[in-house]
Amino acid sequence: MSYTYLVIVCLIAAFANRYALKGVSNWLSYTDSLHKYGCELPPSYAHGEPFLGTDLANRIKKGMQNGNLMEVMRQIFESYGTTFRAKIMGKSVLYTMDVQNIQAVVALEFEKFGVEPLRQATSGTWMGKGIFVTDGPVWDHARRTLRPIFHRAQVGNLTAFEKHVSRMIKLIPRDETTVDLQTLFRRLFLDTSTEYLFGDCTDSLSSESGSLEADAFITSFDNALRGVSRRQMLGPLMNLLGSDKEWKKAVAEVHARIDKYVDAALQRRREGGSSQITSSSYVFADQLVYETQDRLFLRDQLLNVFFPARDSAAIGASCVFFMLARNPDAWQKLRGEVLKIDQPITFEVLKSMKYLSWVLNESLRLLSPTNRAVRTCLSDCVLPRGGGVKGTSPIYVLKGTRIDMDFGLMHQDEEVWGKDAKLFRPERWEKVKPMWTYIPFLGGPRICPAQQMVLTQYGYLLVRLMQEFERMVNRDEVSSFIEEHRMTKQSRNGVKVAFVTAGKK
Ligand code: HEM
Ligand SMILES: *[C@@H]1O[C@H](CO)[C@@H](O)[C@H](O)[C@H]1NC(C)=O
Ligand SMILES: *[C@@H]1O[C@H](CO)[C@@H](O)[C@H](O)[C@H]1NC(C)=O
Repeated sequence: MSYTYLVIVCLIAAFANRYALKGVSNWLSYTDSLHKYGCELPPSYAHGEPFLGTDLANRIKKGMQNGNLMEVMRQIFESYGTTFRAKIMGKSVLYTMDVQNIQAVVALEFEKFGVEPLRQATSGTWMGKGIFVTDGPVWDHARRTLRPIFHRAQVGNLTAFEKHVSRMIKLIPRDETTVDLQTLFRRLFLDTSTEYLFGDCTDSLSSESGSLEADAFITSFDNALRGVSRRQMLGPLMNLLGSDKEWKKAVAEVHARIDKYVDAALQRRREGGSSQITSSSYVFADQLVYETQDRLFLRDQLLNVFFPARDSAAIGASCVFFMLARNPDAWQKLRGEVLKIDQPITFEVLKSMKYLSWVLNESLRLLSPTNRAVRTCLSDCVLPRGGGVKGTSPIYVLKGTRIDMDFGLMHQDEEVWGKDAKLFRPERWEKVKPMWTYIPFLGGPRICPAQQMVLTQYGYLLVRLMQEFERMVNRDEVSSFIEEHRMTKQSRNGVKVAFVTAGKK
């Protein structure tokens, strides 16, 4: 046992002592309620070190480092059932991949679970009061303000997207040299998102070498994100480390840059007069200033949306092409559908393509940028399943418990999807109509507001690449997806492929 470990134990013991009395009364009402609602305890992870749960934390850390966390979690769920409890850094955590429990947390009992306790602690200073890090009325206000903007963007004009897609296609070698699509997609969605959010494109695709790091803004943004990861790892110790000067500097730089975009949008509004949509390219900042002129609110929301807009979109697209590279038959079949299009590619045209939607759904079922969602229980409540030996009784969840929902494993559960659950088979979507068993964008009031926009862009991307190239050949020696954990989960090996132009054999 190392010295630092002992120090941590002592610190936490000191804190725990303060709350011991509260713990006792909690425990009494807990056992009481167990009986009242017919609840039973869910299985408990067999910790080698039960006080802080460092053994499980290390197992998870190792999974992240080795890039096989999903497999590690699968094994743990296989030995304990679809819901179990454990300790992580001394905190009670409930792990679940049970559809009824997930639905209860994100929809039916929505008010009783929040993201704020966790996300404000690690990201509050920098993400402010944005949609991603708040709960309750503050979140509700942000969500209502952003909703119409996302709604209009989803059916928006694809001309703006085409500009970036055609730039990207120009960078793809035509001599069947290997190219990493994940890198290209990061540049594509960086350019796209800076343009539609701020009205100021990073232009990382306009030159061959266009490095992502060239832009000072992106460098500061990444430094700020790294600071957040550090704070997440330190957990309760983060405030003891004093001020993290470099992190604060990065945060200030990001804020200053976004403030500039906000001021420019406010200025455009003053000059543009009353018409809300003045140009064909749709800029979020320009829409937002018609909802409010509160500069801090505007900064927080733009920053909070840029965070998933840049990363998740690029990684999600990489997931789709990762699967297609390993399933050339599906590429050919989809290309057949694509070549039949004899009109401009619009939202409606994409919506009408059946096999396209099967491929998108099947890809995001097996792989996605996020397959877990975490919440903190805000007031004691009952979840429908996971208690008792069979895991069929309801369970009682105490305020303060953390819920770690693994919907990625639910997407591969053989009980739900049948024996071929782990196989890529778009045709399965002819029969299945899943409700809560398929939630790559989560569900309930906090469902990803960008879902339709993202699916439209992926559809467009697939159609354009298939019009341009006859085949896509996998050039990755490794067949499985090795995870690289940043704030999201991307492919450590990228998506290495080669494209064969039409006419070549
Ligand atoms: C394939 C791509 C994407 C996937 C799979 C995805 C998935 C998700 C998921 C699972 C959540 C819920 C997270 C949680 O509450 O714990 C979420 C929330 C969110 N996503 Fe996405 N997302 C994607 C792309 C995007 C893009 C491109 C944007 C922005 C342009 C975006 C904006 C948001 C926002 C603002 C939230 C927070 C909503 C709220 O808390 O009310 N997402 N997304
Ligand atoms: C889409 O935008 C382009 C310019 O970016 C414009 O010429 C075209 O008319 C727009 N189409 C629609 C349907 O709004
Ligand atoms: C694909 O999944 C979405 C949910 O994200 C669902 O609404 C849709 O019906 C599915 N498509 C097909 C063809 O089943």
